[in-house]
Amino acid sequence: MKIALGCDHGGLEHKNAIAEHLKERGFDIKDFGIYEQKSVDYPEIAEKVANSIASGETELGILVCGTGIGMSLAANKVKGIRAAACSEHFSAKYTRLHNNSNILCLGGRVIGVGTAIELVDLFVDTEFEGGRHQRRVDMITTIENK
Ligand code: RB5
Repeated sequence: MKIALGCDHGGLEHKNAIAEHLKERGFDIKDFGIYEQKSVDYPEIAEKVANSIASGETELGILVCGTGIGMSLAANKVKGIRAAACSEHFSAKYTRLHNNSNILCLGGRVIGVGTAIELVDLFVDTEFEGGRHQRRVDMITTIENK
């Protein structure tokens, strides 16, 4: 599976640790930066990762900013993106199971690196359940297309 990664200055340490972890697990990573500690505008990175998924270049994405919230707001503006800001295990799992989310957004100032990696593992290892949840996800797409 190919996974897109991105962060702003609030999430560099987390993003780099996640990249290493996913590479060790054998995933194909596309890292959209940032690559060094400097202040950047999170919507730029969110858009790059979201476009990569929307175009089919990558399947899932992980975005890290200070809270995870700005990244999720920006990424969700791209058609076909369902980005969820999560800070605990249950949500990271169920946003794949029930929402078929394709981007996990994490807060580098909210959770530690260890928890972030656990949430990433849950997110990438959980399959969408489909069934009644497909209808609900389709309803989100209908709103998006209005
Ligand atoms: C940047 O200081 C901060 O606003 C950003 O990382 C993020 O938390 C936005 O939602």
